[in-house]
Amino acid sequence: MFSKRKEAPQIDPVQRELYEHARKRIVQKKRLFQHFIIFLVGSIFLVILNLLIGVGKEITFFGTNWYVAAIVCWAFLLVLHFCNVWLFHKFMGTEWTSNQMERLIAKQKAEIALIQKDVDLMYPKDDLIKKKEEFIKKQQPKAVEERVKPKLDRKITMIAAAGENNALGKDNDLVWHLPDDFKRFKELTTGHHIIMGRKTFESFPKPLPNRVHVVITRNENYNPEGAVVVHSMDEALEIAKDDPQPFIIGGGEIYKIGMEYANYIELTRVHGTFEADTFFPEIDPDAWIVENKELHGADERHEFGFTYLTYKKK
Ligand SMILES: NC(=O)c1ccc[n+]([C@@H]2O[C@H](COP(=O)([O-])OP(=O)(O)OC[C@H]3O[C@@H](n4cnc5c(N)ncnc54)[C@H](OP(=O)(O)O)[C@@H]3O)[C@@H](O)[C@H]2O)c1
Repeated sequence: MFSKRKEAPQIDPVQRELYEHARKRIVQKKRLFQHFIIFLVGSIFLVILNLLIGVGKEITFFGTNWYVAAIVCWAFLLVLHFCNVWLFHKFMGTEWTSNQMERLIAKQKAEIALIQKDVDLMYPKDDLIKKKEEFIKKQQPKAVEERVKPKLDRKITMIAAAGENNALGKDNDLVWHLPDDFKRFKELTTGHHIIMGRKTFESFPKPLPNRVHVVITRNENYNPEGAVVVHSMDEALEIAKDDPQPFIIGGGEIYKIGMEYANYIELTRVHGTFEADTFFPEIDPDAWIVENKELHGADERHEFGFTYLTYKKK
């Protein structure tokens, strides 16, 4: 139904190059031949003019008749043209250049092969592949679970007290005074690493006794007394790697980061709504279950009632 269009035969690139080269040579030779003929006719014409009407006789050019000088100069140009077509082209034309290039490339290839041989001897290929794979593996960022995997057998616990509206504190201080919650905080955290943000650390009048303070900051020059300074949660958990239950104790910025790392939350839910500038992140009910719940009513020492909630990551 459809007439097939005949494809033009593809010319082999090498053939095309040869053809182009031959064509150029023919043009060059043709021009040289034309030059020669014009020179011949021109010279004869000048000689005849000289013999018949004495053209060029009266004027001398470097002691000779100018028509002779003109013929000699022209002959010189013709010789140059000849050399260009037959000598320079032959020896230094495109063919010559590409031959030189090929020779150079072959030399380089031979040298590379020698170096490769040495490298193969020094570093066997299997070893190199293995090392490369190990290197690539190290470069790939691991998922948090994998990074803290050895630590997942332990409890990474966030501990916080937050109002019904998730209020944590204001002006770098707490907004309630709950002595029993403090007591519980002390009981749970004593003997452990407590990981905190720089601002929370600075909200303490002095470091809390019997706990390793791990302070997270972006400041490379931060060097307070009584704390180990780190610059990420990964680093903090690395410092606490031998602790079976390190605690992330806040504040707001660090809890946000900690959500991904922690597998337990000890939350004291303070029953009230508070004005605050720092808040605890939302606890996703699909990701966490309440494992334990203990109510503590308000009394003469506690202005607000509160509930201890132990969350476990599902
Ligand atoms: N209710 C509670 O249970 C509880 C517990 C703890 C704290 N708080 C309250 O929370 C408030 C403080 O919390 P906050 O959120 O303002 O501060 P924060 O979390 O204690 O500390 C914030 C600081 O941590 C460092 N930081 C944060 N993210 C970082 C990262 N990705 N890499 C390296 N460093 C990082 C920065 O330190 P640099 O600026 O030095 O770089 C940042 O300024 C206070 O009001 C405190 O009383 C309440």
